[in-house]
Amino acid sequence: MDARRMNRNLFILPIDKDKTSGEYENTYLEVIDDLKKKIKIPIAVKMGYYFTNPLRMVKELYNHKANAAVLFNRFYESDIDIEKLEIKSAEVFSHPSDLRLSLRWISLISAQMPEMELSASTGAHDGAAVVKLLLAGAQTVQLCSTLYKNGVEQAAKILEFITEWMKRHEFSSIDEFRGAMNYKNIPDPDVYERSQFMKYYSARE
Ligand SMILES: Cc1cc2nc3c(=O)[nH]c(=O)nc-3n(C[C@H](O)[C@H](O)[C@H](O)COP(=O)(O)O)c2cc1C
Repeated sequence: MDARRMNRNLFILPIDKDKTSGEYENTYLEVIDDLKKKIKIPIAVKMGYYFTNPLRMVKELYNHKANAAVLFNRFYESDIDIEKLEIKSAEVFSHPSDLRLSLRWISLISAQMPEMELSASTGAHDGAAVVKLLLAGAQTVQLCSTLYKNGVEQAAKILEFITEWMKRHEFSSIDEFRGAMNYKNIPDPDVYERSQFMKYYSARE
């Protein structure tokens, strides 16, 4: 693999129309194999969300001895300034609604691959979002955009929220509710599988 195509994040932009998704995925696995030979510390792989089958990809990461997966990374994206006719940077920070990405996949993967540690990243902006990701099965939740926007004090506010929420629900440890609402533990797992809006509209009629 051309080193210029691989930035310091483990991310390859698939811009080769002749290369299959499997070939791209194998490159990730080769990097992990190589790292595993060279270092002894545990490896957490921070993934992007462009994989056709994130579940399979996490399984492959596990098979290649990665110790954890972080779902998901966020990358620089470009936008077009239509007045200056120039390429500019798209919004760098996530939006709270981006939580849906990490929430769905943490829930699905934690249910089917409990042996893999999962860290959630993307869209956690407040305490409620962190609680949701823990309920979905995240081992840890990472914060970035909200700290840029609100300062590191936001971390203390989030901790306060979680503590108050746990008291209200009579939980004395996070392990008591971690994954309680993942794909396997809810009565109607279809809600995590739904991807079409049709039912949303019919339910409103
Ligand atoms: C300005 C900025 C710089 C980032 N730099 C890195 C980086 O160097 N390495 C990395 O793994 N992720 C980086 N990220 C991704 C974040 O760590 C995080 O995974 C992503 O923003 C999603 O989480 P959030 O919704 O809490 O922002 C960066 C994100 C932002 C907004």
